[in-house]
Amino acid sequence: MSNVKLRSGGTIPLEMHRARMVQKINLLPVGERLEKIQESGFNTFLLRNRDIFLDMLTDSGTNALSDNQLAAMFQADDSYAGSETFFRLEKVLIDLFGKKHFLPAHQGRACEHIIARTLVKPNSVAIMNYHFTTTKAHITLMGGTIEEIISDEGLKVKSDMSFKGDIDIGKLREAIKRIGTENISFVRIEAGTNLIGGQPVSMQNMREVSAICRKEGIKLVYDASLLADNLYFIKTREEEFADTPIIEIMLEIGRMMDIIYFSARKLGSSRGGGILTSDDTIFAQMRELVPLFEGFLTYGGMSVRDMEATAVGLVETLDMGVISQTPVFVEALCNEMQANGVPVVLPPGGLGCHVDAREFCSHIPQEEYPAGALAAALFIVSGVRGMERGTLSEQRNPDGSERLAEMELVRLALPRRVYTLSQIKFVADRFAWLFENRHLIGGLRFTDEPKVLRFFIGRLEAIGNWPQVLADKFVEDFGGSL
Ligand code: F0G
Repeated sequence: MSNVKLRSGGTIPLEMHRARMVQKINLLPVGERLEKIQESGFNTFLLRNRDIFLDMLTDSGTNALSDNQLAAMFQADDSYAGSETFFRLEKVLIDLFGKKHFLPAHQGRACEHIIARTLVKPNSVAIMNYHFTTTKAHITLMGGTIEEIISDEGLKVKSDMSFKGDIDIGKLREAIKRIGTENISFVRIEAGTNLIGGQPVSMQNMREVSAICRKEGIKLVYDASLLADNLYFIKTREEEFADTPIIEIMLEIGRMMDIIYFSARKLGSSRGGGILTSDDTIFAQMRELVPLFEGFLTYGGMSVRDMEATAVGLVETLDMGVISQTPVFVEALCNEMQANGVPVVLPPGGLGCHVDAREFCSHIPQEEYPAGALAAALFIVSGVRGMERGTLSEQRNPDGSERLAEMELVRLALPRRVYTLSQIKFVADRFAWLFENRHLIGGLRFTDEPKVLRFFIGRLEAIGNWPQVLADKFVEDFGGSL
């Protein structure tokens, strides 16, 4: 993807691929969209795909496959143990990150499970730039806690900082001193902080964090799930790396980290996951858990077809034409939203466009889940499925009180090479209409609240009749148009 200059002087994000297989999608009339979101307990995770127009819930397992990935899937070597497919994937990963060992797992959270079981002791603290939902859940399950040391700018909706995912080095030093190295399970860097807008981490920051961890003897864990976007930002926002081949950036990251893990549903645009390390002791401990929880060591719960697709997808991550697609489209969507006055996280990050529901729905108290309500409202007025990334996605405090999220966002994820520019423009248009009518949106409350990862399957209801009022206003303004 490139931002190509037009005759008028403006630029356009130009797709560097063509679609050769397509899927029909439906845009239901607004009345039916209202029914579907009600039936789904106002939780976009519970909608059915056939009722969704543009699925911007996530990029996880929904990126478009390339022709070479599909071709590789046909060459998969089916066997329980010793599959050639495993050795192909292992070689690609070891070549890309320069690590000694690779362990397969069925997806990113399975890697987190294995790492947490190996390194998290009861009452230990895992320090990180920012948590991800499943990461935190696995650490707390093992009796540990987390501490976030993101730069202050990282939690501001709008900032000029190019790398809002950076760790605050002062906070890191202070945390190590206060907690004590013996009580720290590991330091974790998440490339492209998921929950706070897909904001990247700079190489400079990784170098500083790595030097401190080495000196203190603390293990450094790298969540590379969102690395593809982060690589693009390192190349385009960190001058030193403008001409550095991507492979060299990956190898340097590999040298700095003790453990690297990833969700192949994201990195590699396939399905599955894996862990890399050169530490023989940690490797031996983690290796025992793979056959127990995942599957034999040469598939780890993955299908061989997906492993082949991952291997090719990882190599394609070295191509700027491939990895630029999401960030460039995110920027285009953020620019349109901003031009319409819709508050979005800036600078644009990876993963998707993130709308600030706290400002958008400033009349809805955080206890009534403004981001969840906004995601439901968006579905009613557009058939677009986004994801709540705010208080609903938090775990309650141990005493049962609500833990209010630091950022209250609706994420419009842009799966790689899936949507077109006209679809992006449609989203921006409906969001602009929703912004003009934002006073019609009301809050939500739980009718069924699971104890763990409640956002996935919890059900809610609207406080008041606002969904119907919103749908009526849509009909008034758009008539019979979808
Ligand atoms: N780490 C990060 C940074 C992630 O974004 C995800 C998944 C995981 C770990 C867990 O990986 O899903 O393969 O088990 N993020 C998805 C999302 C769910 O929609 O953002 P997984």
